[in-house]
Amino acid sequence: MSDVTVIGSGAMGSALVEVLAASGAEVMVWNRTGTKAEALSGPRVRVARSVADALTSSPLTIVSVSDHEVAKTLVEAAGVGLGGRAVASTSPVDPDQAKSLNTVVTAAGGHYLDLAIPRSDGQVRAGAGVFLVSGDRAAYDANRELFDRVGAATYVDAAPGAAYVGGLAVVLAYLPMAVGLLQGLHICRQHDVPLEWFEPTALDFYSFQIRSLLDQVTGRIDPSAGDEGSVDAMAEWAAELAVSLRAMGLDAGMFDALRRLFAAASHAGHGGADWTSIAEIQLLDVTPSRQ
Ligand SMILES: NC(=O)c1ccc[n+]([C@@H]2O[C@H](COP(=O)([O-])OP(=O)(O)OC[C@H]3O[C@@H](n4cnc5c(N)ncnc54)[C@H](OP(=O)(O)O)[C@@H]3O)[C@@H](O)[C@H]2O)c1
Repeated sequence: MSDVTVIGSGAMGSALVEVLAASGAEVMVWNRTGTKAEALSGPRVRVARSVADALTSSPLTIVSVSDHEVAKTLVEAAGVGLGGRAVASTSPVDPDQAKSLNTVVTAAGGHYLDLAIPRSDGQVRAGAGVFLVSGDRAAYDANRELFDRVGAATYVDAAPGAAYVGGLAVVLAYLPMAVGLLQGLHICRQHDVPLEWFEPTALDFYSFQIRSLLDQVTGRIDPSAGDEGSVDAMAEWAAELAVSLRAMGLDAGMFDALRRLFAAASHAGHGGADWTSIAEIQLLDVTPSRQ
């Protein structure tokens, strides 16, 4: 018996095998191209003869193959009873695809977990893995220690696919914030604003604003103590920022898009509404016209 099985010895699968073995775990590995699995074998890494052998060698199998369809086919075709073992897949899935994988694993008597990894194989290999897990809670609890040994694991929800939906929800704000931050840095350089001042001030500003916005929209603080402002006021602010950027010779496209977003909500009759309702306003207004 091994502690963990990894099916797939591509970039991510081999990184997982290496870090798990380095953490002291006994690892079983299987790969379609057997030579790649053999190349990983060592004192703590053994090669399984078949997928069925791999799936029944450990309490947890991590399937890290090219996509969820391949993962599903491999588990289905193995035709083996999983006897309460956990099967986690690293392939991106939408909720329907995750449900379908969950059905195959549970039909075989196992417990399914989504294992979203918002990190590269290189980062996982360096011990900086991040694992977002959804699916069977008891299976997560039973195997959490293995994930924690090789990175940071968080459980999202029992619903299959929740790890990917949650991951998307978390990263969504990063790109616009990063572009704004890079433009801010550029402005500092252009106008001799000291970067030693910009860096701590930006860190303070964003951590305070993110905390306060989340407190406000989740009802943890009185809304009147939060960041007040109407949809119309935000449209105006975005337009002003676009004008300032253009005056400095910088691209203002992102702020034009934000102005259009708020202006569309205003046009739909929500100009006086609290601006923090912007995501719901767009959803409500767009849905009927699509039907
Ligand atoms: N790499 C990353 O940074 C990263 C990060 C997060 C998530 N992921 C996800 O993790 C999964 C694996 O990624 P990867 O980068 O390791 O991919 P990869 O390097 O392309 O490896 C693909 C793996 O899938 C196997 N495979 C492909 N088709 C197969 C089939 N029909 N039957 C059996 N095995 C098959 C390959 O076996 P052979 O060796 O025999 O071809 C190989 O082991 C993907 O779903 C990816 O989206 C990857």
